[in-house]
Amino acid sequence: MHLHLRDGDMLRLVCADSAGPFAGAVIMPNLVPPVTSAEVLTAYRARILEAAGPHAAAFQPLMTLFFQHYTEAQLAAALPDLFAVKLYPHGVTTNSESGIHSISAADPTFRLMEEMGIPLLVHGETTGFVLDRETEFLSVYETLATRFPRLRIVMEHITTAAAVTLLDRFENLHATVTAHHLIITLDDVAGGMLQPHLFCKPIAKRPSDRDALLAAALAAHPKLMMGSDSAPHPREAKECCGCAAGVYSAPVLLPRLAQLFADHGALDHLQAFISGNACRIHGLNPPDKSITLVRESWTVPTRCGDGSGPTVVPWEAGSELEWRVKA
Ligand code: DOR
Ligand code: ZN
Repeated sequence: MHLHLRDGDMLRLVCADSAGPFAGAVIMPNLVPPVTSAEVLTAYRARILEAAGPHAAAFQPLMTLFFQHYTEAQLAAALPDLFAVKLYPHGVTTNSESGIHSISAADPTFRLMEEMGIPLLVHGETTGFVLDRETEFLSVYETLATRFPRLRIVMEHITTAAAVTLLDRFENLHATVTAHHLIITLDDVAGGMLQPHLFCKPIAKRPSDRDALLAAALAAHPKLMMGSDSAPHPREAKECCGCAAGVYSAPVLLPRLAQLFADHGALDHLQAFISGNACRIHGLNPPDKSITLVRESWTVPTRCGDGSGPTVVPWEAGSELEWRVKA
């Protein structure tokens, strides 16, 4: 329910890692420049399906517009291919330079989206102290959920126990969580040698936060959905001074989640967490597709890419995983 596929060579490299095992994904609009019109959205969708190749028949790209002030006509034009609008506050993450400066000034667009039944997906961080950015933003969610009770709001990639608590307070508030935020804490990112491939926004938090997220995921909390936030960057943009934020999780996502849920005796909740909850919350009907996960170890490649285009280092590069997706 939250995927970065990028464009061009990168799109062609990473698309199959998600379009293969998944029947659909919510595609993030933070391209350069961002996706802000019906024409661009529809053309981007076509490029994704082209990059998906043989997987295109059973893969539904659920397209999003980058939040800005939209008129009813602009939203209506995008509607045939539009799933949701993604809001980035200005400057909080990768390619968010055209994000909004004032949430309250955006009321007319929120109202239109509420009337038109278009979900609002939010990168909920302030520009405050890095560990407090998400909790500082929670009051914005409370205001939005209260003022627009029929607007379906998704707190994207939550990382704190406080955000989990908020889910139960507002009927129209939902959340996604990444696989990596169920597993790592800030210690894994920066507690020892710096791990650039685990650096993402929002940054992983405390063990108590990770444990609250994990408990909600393992219980298949009905308002929580898996959103991978798989966010590929070229290796040289990660392994450098000024490391880009993003974890490329797509190649290991299902095996790693199967392992996590199996370790906690919760495999019976894996389906709901990965897709059942999302289908129910959003009324989705993805293409019929099933995959088989088998308990069979494999070693995650250290690189994705054959050298002719970008090279990306996947999450868990070089480690042995216990589960694999059966071809
Ligand atoms: O770590 C992140 N990477 N967080 C985001 O919000 C954006 C993403 C990206 O596009 O690379
Ligand atoms: Zn993202």
